[in-house]
Amino acid sequence: MRKAEELLVALAAALLLVGILSSANAATDPNDVSNLNLLFTSLNSAQQLTNWKQSGGDPCGENWKGVTCSNSKVSEIKIPGLGLSGNMGYQLDKFTSLTVFDISNNNLGNQLPYQLPPNLQRLNLANCGFSGLLPYSISLMSPLKYLNVSRNQFSGQVTLQFTSLTSLTTLDFSYNAMSDNLPQSFQFLTSIHDMYLQNNQFAGTLDVLATLPLQNLNVENNRFTGWVPEQLKSINPKTSGNQLSTGPAPPPPPGTPPATRPNRNRGSGGGGSSNNSGGGGGGSSGIGAGAIVGIVISVLVVGAIAAFFILKRRSRRKPSADLEKLNNRPFAPQPPHEVEESKPPQISAAANMKAFDEPSVISLRPPPIDRLKSFDEDDVTAMPIVTPKKVNIAPIDAKSFSVADLQIATDSFNVENLIGEGSIGRVFRAQLDDGKVVAVKKINASVLSNSDDFLAIVSEISLLHHPNIVELIGYCCEHGQHLLVYEFHKNGSLHEFLYLSDEYTKPLTWNSRVKIALGTARALEYLHEVCSPSVIHKNFKSANILLDNELSPHLSDCALASLVSEPDQASGYSAPEVAMSGVYTIKSDVYSFGVVMLELLTGRTPFDSSRPRSEQSLVRWATPQLHDIDALSKMVDPALKSLYPVKSLSRFADVIALCVQPEPEFRPPMSEVVQALVRLVQRANMSKRTFGNDGAARAGSGDADDYTP
Ligand SMILES: *[C@@H]1O[C@H](CO)[C@@H](O)[C@H](O)[C@H]1NC(C)=O
Ligand SMILES: *[C@@H]1O[C@H](CO)[C@@H](O)[C@H](O)[C@H]1NC(C)=O
Repeated sequence: MRKAEELLVALAAALLLVGILSSANAATDPNDVSNLNLLFTSLNSAQQLTNWKQSGGDPCGENWKGVTCSNSKVSEIKIPGLGLSGNMGYQLDKFTSLTVFDISNNNLGNQLPYQLPPNLQRLNLANCGFSGLLPYSISLMSPLKYLNVSRNQFSGQVTLQFTSLTSLTTLDFSYNAMSDNLPQSFQFLTSIHDMYLQNNQFAGTLDVLATLPLQNLNVENNRFTGWVPEQLKSINPKTSGNQLSTGPAPPPPPGTPPATRPNRNRGSGGGGSSNNSGGGGGGSSGIGAGAIVGIVISVLVVGAIAAFFILKRRSRRKPSADLEKLNNRPFAPQPPHEVEESKPPQISAAANMKAFDEPSVISLRPPPIDRLKSFDEDDVTAMPIVTPKKVNIAPIDAKSFSVADLQIATDSFNVENLIGEGSIGRVFRAQLDDGKVVAVKKINASVLSNSDDFLAIVSEISLLHHPNIVELIGYCCEHGQHLLVYEFHKNGSLHEFLYLSDEYTKPLTWNSRVKIALGTARALEYLHEVCSPSVIHKNFKSANILLDNELSPHLSDCALASLVSEPDQASGYSAPEVAMSGVYTIKSDVYSFGVVMLELLTGRTPFDSSRPRSEQSLVRWATPQLHDIDALSKMVDPALKSLYPVKSLSRFADVIALCVQPEPEFRPPMSEVVQALVRLVQRANMSKRTFGNDGAARAGSGDADDYTP
C-alpha cells in the first residue's frame, strides 16, 4: 500500500517536472498549429510566408514569418504588405490567444470572415480591398485597443456596437464609404485618443464625440453638419470638407449625450479588471500566478506530495469546467422585458429605409460564453466574465400596426392578395398608406394564441439584420390577431422560380443559382454563428427563399421556429435525425440547406411522387452520383441547357455531399459552406471574367440583366 503510494507520488513529481520544463520551451499548441495551417492554405500558400506549412510544423519553434508566440500559443500574427491573396479561412475565431492581428496592405478581395480572433488588442485590416459591413464580432472584442480598417470599401451605416470597446484608444475608419450618422454607442469609447473618420460619407452631427477624451480627430471630407462641439475645440480637430457651421454653437439640442464625461469605472471594465466583471476575474488570475509560484516552491521544498495533490486537483477541474461552460450557455433568447437600466438604451440612428440592404439597426446580443476572454488554459473554472451580465435588449424595433390599418392595406385580406400559405399562416400582399408594398403574414390562431409569446418572437425577429434575411417592417397584435409585416419581394420564392415558371420567365442561369446558394448560406451562417444564442431556422426550404429584382436571395420565416410544430417528413427537407427524434439543431438546418442546393442543381423537388420509386426522394437518388462527373451532367437541371462550367458544377456537388451526410456531426458549419462557395465563385472568376463581380450575395451584377425582360 505504502510502496504503491510512494511510487505514484514519485511518478507524479516526475510528470510535473516534465510539464514545467516543456511549457518553458514548448512546441506550439496543436490547435494553433492547425489554425495556422488552414490560414496558410486559405491564403493560397503564399511563398512570402516563409517557413509556414500546410500541415503540421512548429510555428513557435521554427520562426514562421510574422508569428509570435507566448507560452507556446500563437499571440501575434503580423503579415502586412506581403501581396497575399485568397482568404483567411473560417477558423480565425479559434485563435483564442491571439492579441495582435495585422494583415493590412494585402489583396484579400472581399473575403473578410464574420468570425475574427476574439481576444485581440490590435486589429489591422487596412487596405485589403474589403467591402460591405464590418464584421459584428468586432463589437465583442472587449480588450481591443487599436482598430484600423482604413482604405477599404466598407460601406453603409456603422452597425458595430461600441458598448464593450472601452479600452479602444485608436480607431481608423478613414478612406471607406461609410455613411449615415455616427453610432450613438461611440459614447462608450472612454479610452479613445485618436479617431480618424476622414474621407467617408458620414452625416449628421459630431455631438456624440463631445465627451470623449480625444487627442486627435480627423473628420475631413464627410457630410457632417451642425457645430464642432465646444469640448473638442482645444484639440484642433481636422474638419474641412464638411457642411459644418461656424460661429457660436447653440445650446445642445435635447437628446444629445450629456456634456459630462462618461463614467470611467465602466471604462476599466472592458480591460477585465473591474468590479462588475466580478472580483473573481481579476483575483483569480492573481491566484493562478500565485499557484504557479507555489507549485515551483512545492517541488523544490515540500516535493512530491504537494505535486501529487495539485495534479490530482487539476485533473478533476477540467471536465467540470467544460460542463459548467455547457450549462451556462444561454440557449433561450432573452425576453425583451429584461432591459436593464444600468446603461442608457441604445438609440439607433434613424432607420434608413431607402436601402433595406443595409442593416439600419444594431442588434444587441449578449456575446456567447465561448468568446469570453480566457487568461489561462489551466484556469478555465476561474474564467472571468468580462462582459457585464446585464445586457441591453433592444425594445421591439418595428412599427406597430392596427388591425384596421392592415385590413385596409390588404383589402380585408382579400384572396386576390393571397400570395402564400403555409403551416404557420397565410401571406398577403398589402399596400400601405404611403404606397409601399409589403407582405403581411397572418399567423394562425392554432399555432399561437398567446400575445406575450408573439411579442417575444417579434422582438427576436426585429434584431435580425442581414442583407439575405427578409426584413421585418412591423407587426400587429390586437384583438387576438397576430400579424407580421415584412418587406415584399416581387420575384416570389425560389420554389416558384424553379418549378412554377411559365414560358415567359427565363430559367435561372448557373451563376444565379450559385449566387442564391451563397446568399442563403450567408443568411444561415448569420443565424447560426453570428447571432447569439444561435437561431435555428427549422424550416429551411426553397419556398422560404425569396428573390428580389436582382435575384438576390432573402431568407424568410427566420426566428419563427417555435411556431413550426411537426417536422414535415414527407417534404424531403428533414434531416434523418429529425425524422427520428424530432430534435432540430443547426446541423439539421445544414442538411436542409444541402437539399436546397440539390434543388438548384437538379431542378427537382425534394420529394416527387410522380417519379419512379427510386427517384422519388431527391437526396437518396442524387447523393450516390454526386462524385461522378458523367452522372452529374445527367442529373443537372435540363433547363440549364448545358450552360454551366463543369468544374463549378462538380465543386457545387462536393458541397452538397458534405451537407446532406446522414451523420449530423460530419456536416460542416455554415461558415465553412460559405467559404467553399466563395472559393468556387473566385475560381470561376479567374477562369471566366463574366461570372459576376464578386459573387457576393448583394452584388447586383450583370448576371441579373439576363433576366429582366
Ligand atoms: C492604418 O493603416 C494605414 C495603412 O497601412 C496607415 O496608413 C494608417 O496610418 C493606419 N492608421 C493608424 C491610425 O495607425
Ligand atoms: C470595487 O469595489 C470595491 C468594494 O465594493 C471598492 O472599494 C472599489 O473602489 C471598487 N473598484 C472600482 C475600480 O470600482
